[in-house]
Amino acid sequence: MDTWSIKKLAGHCGARLEGVSLANASTSQLQEMRSALFEHGVIVMPQQHLSPDQHIKLAEFFGEIVVNRFFTPVASHPIIAEVRTSPNQAEVIGGTWHTDHSYDAAPAMCSILSAKELPPFGGDTHFASMAASYRAMSPGLQNILKGLRAWHSDSSFATTKQGINPKQGAFRDPVIHPVIIKHPNTGTPCVFVNGDFTINFENWSIEESAPMLSYLYALITKPIFTARVVWEPGMVAIWDNRLVQHYATADYSGYTRLMHRITVAGVPLEGA
Ligand code: SIN
Repeated sequence: MDTWSIKKLAGHCGARLEGVSLANASTSQLQEMRSALFEHGVIVMPQQHLSPDQHIKLAEFFGEIVVNRFFTPVASHPIIAEVRTSPNQAEVIGGTWHTDHSYDAAPAMCSILSAKELPPFGGDTHFASMAASYRAMSPGLQNILKGLRAWHSDSSFATTKQGINPKQGAFRDPVIHPVIIKHPNTGTPCVFVNGDFTINFENWSIEESAPMLSYLYALITKPIFTARVVWEPGMVAIWDNRLVQHYATADYSGYTRLMHRITVAGVPLEGA
C-alpha cells in the first residue's frame, strides 16, 4: 500500500504530503496523516480535487463537523462553508492573523480547506506555530502567561467587511480560555490568543491587556515561526487550530478565489 511522502515546508510548522489519494485512503493512511498534522500543525496535500461528499467524509475521520454560524454555506452541502472572494472585494475572509472558532467554548480542533477556484497569482495562506513561539519565550514570560486566561468573542464579525453578513442571533457571549494551552492530544504548550477574537485578560481591563497582547501578536507572527502555503489546483490544507494561527493574503484584487472549508469540533482547552 502507498505511504505518504512527507516534506517539511519550513523550520517550525507545515508539511506537504503526497502519494495517497484522500478520497480512497485507508484508516492507517488517515491515521498517518493525522499524526503528521499533530507534528507539523498544518499539512497540505496537492491534487486531491475532493468532491463535497469526500470533503465531509474526510472531516468525519477527525470528529464531528461544527458548522460555522457566520459564513455562507455551500448551497448543495450546507455543512460546508464557502470562503469566497469576489473580484471587487478588498478584504478577504481570514485576512488577519487568527484562530478559527476561538470564540467557542470548545474551539474547533481543525479546519480543512479545499481549493475550488484560485486566482492566477497570490492568495497564499500563512501559518504560524504557536508552539515554537511559546518555546522561544523566556521562562519568566512563560510563567506569567501560564497564570493567565483571556476572553474571546465573536463580536468582530459585527463590523467585518469580508463579505460576511451575520444573521441575527449568530452572536454569543464571550468565552474564556487559558493563554497558554496544553495541546489536547500531544500536551505541547501553545499560545492561545489571537488578534481577531481575543478581547482582554481575565481580571485585566481592555486597556491594560492591549500592550501585552500587542507584544504577543508581534512575537507569535514573526516570520521565523511561519510557513507559507502557495495554493495549487485541487489542494487540500488541514490545520490544527491549537497548534497554528493563519492569515489569508488579500493580494489578488480583480480575481475570484473560492475555497470550501469544514471545521471539526474540538474540546474545552486546559492550561499548560
Ligand atoms: C480562513 O481563515 O479560514 C481562510 C483561509 C484562506 O482562505 O486561505
